[in-house]
Amino acid sequence: MEVTAESLVRDVVLNVPGGVAAMEKHHIDYCCGGAKSLRQVATELGLRVEWVLDTIAKEREGGGATDAELLDVPLQQVVASLVDGHHVTSRTAAERIRSLAADAANEAPHDPTITELRARAEKLFASLLPHLVHEEKNLFPYVRSLARAAEQPGSPAPVALFSSIRDVLHDMEEEHEACDLEMQAMRELTKGYATNDATPPSVRALYEALDAHEKDLIRHMHLEGNVVFPRAERLEVKVRSQAPKSSRRAM
Ligand SMILES: [Fe+2]
Ligand SMILES: [Fe+2]
Repeated sequence: MEVTAESLVRDVVLNVPGGVAAMEKHHIDYCCGGAKSLRQVATELGLRVEWVLDTIAKEREGGGATDAELLDVPLQQVVASLVDGHHVTSRTAAERIRSLAADAANEAPHDPTITELRARAEKLFASLLPHLVHEEKNLFPYVRSLARAAEQPGSPAPVALFSSIRDVLHDMEEEHEACDLEMQAMRELTKGYATNDATPPSVRALYEALDAHEKDLIRHMHLEGNVVFPRAERLEVKVRSQAPKSSRRAM
């Protein structure tokens, strides 16, 4: 695809080799901000869009896979990779970051940045951890049922406790945005997790863990918001339209 200042972040990440690396280099939010143009995100971050386009072109030269192929991978497989990969990583990161934040607070008890950072990390995990459970117990089983029904045209549409999957996805997207805002606030608070020679080791370790988790969480939410959710919505329409009339129902 030809990339211009008006290209959408989501399209670059999905279709351009090295697109994710380019976004990460500029700390561009490509999950919840995927529907914005490169020009818009560059303006919001105080960057010249030409720099972003230049980075994309350089990363593209290195080649590599894109996420576009995930649009064809069986949906159950993509969901399994989220649960076995990013959900595990998030739970492990939550435990480690909470422990590192406690260490940093002990080492720098009067540092307001650490106090606020710790509170914001707690707020993030208070939202993120139940969100993972909700996806695993409610949303993803329904998505798997849709995928199974799609493989057997004419089979009944799976029963749902909502009129459309869009209702659930809306809630999930709102929770993604809340997590995203918290991560942005932490990045701003720490001036991009900047350290210097005087930074205590515990604070340095905390910053590194938060930085790494932000990267992982953006990718996690991108795969859901830009790959799994749109595919699941289309699948629900397809499965319901193919189901025997007697089994079609909205609850
Ligand atoms: Fe998830
Ligand atoms: Fe999610």
